[in-house]
Amino acid sequence: MPFYGIEGSDDIQRVITRLQELQNLFQKHGRRVYMADNMMVSGRRTSFIEDEAFMAAFFALDPDVDDKQKLWRIHTYVWAAKSALSVTGDFVECGVFKGLYSAVMADYLTFGRQAKRLVLYDTFEGLPEKYASVAERDILNPDFALPGLRERVAQLFAPFRNVEVVQGIVPDVFPKGLPEKIAFLHLDLNSGPAEVAVLDQIFDRVTPGGLILLDDYGRQEHTALHTAHAHWFGQRGYMPLELPTGQGLVVRR
Ligand SMILES: C[S@@+](CC[C@H](N)C(=O)[O-])C[C@H]1O[C@@H](n2cnc3c(N)ncnc32)[C@H](O)[C@@H]1O
Repeated sequence: MPFYGIEGSDDIQRVITRLQELQNLFQKHGRRVYMADNMMVSGRRTSFIEDEAFMAAFFALDPDVDDKQKLWRIHTYVWAAKSALSVTGDFVECGVFKGLYSAVMADYLTFGRQAKRLVLYDTFEGLPEKYASVAERDILNPDFALPGLRERVAQLFAPFRNVEVVQGIVPDVFPKGLPEKIAFLHLDLNSGPAEVAVLDQIFDRVTPGGLILLDDYGRQEHTALHTAHAHWFGQRGYMPLELPTGQGLVVRR
């Protein structure tokens, strides 16, 4: 479903019908339309769709309907990771789930040949009690706690000699495998308290020029997370760039 957040009401069907009409009108005039992940844009190049290697890496993972909504977010992720290849330090992702973003990136950037490590942290059992409320866990964990998830992710990255899959609660598990220097950090824990606790521990390890990508920074359904990040970065003189995808981007000085 390209648009979500108002499911359960008749309005969702009205929204979709009208957007399809708009899409037809734009296309009649030769304008491209991209409609996914609560975004509708027209007249943008969306050049990542023409990047055959990127699309092949994405479709090699057999994405489901929800995964397909995230194509532009994954393009942002791949761009940030690629940009960070020339920065001193390794790559860290907190919040891996099935490994969708990181697997597309690893394939696209032939990560096995890069002189960097990628360390992937997740409980592989959903949000932990320590950093998430009962309500958050009740809503999200039925989707995140899939049987055999850690094994599946370990198998997905087995061909990459320099990718480590670490199971545990972040930031508590950080003594395990955390790189000294970080060139790219992806935060996708769906939890403000956990993401802020991670930043407290590792922001100083991010090398100047290194990139920090926040998956949920601009999403209306994650207002508390946005407030937490805006405050945390604001106190340090940073303002994350809010992207139309809902992501936030910070470049470490
Ligand atoms: C939205 S998913 C990550 C999606 C992923 N980036 C992808 O490529 O599709 C969020 C993940 O964060 C994990 N998570 C949430 N809080 C965590 C914590 N404090 N420590 C470790 N993992 C956590 C959950 O288990 C879940 O798999």
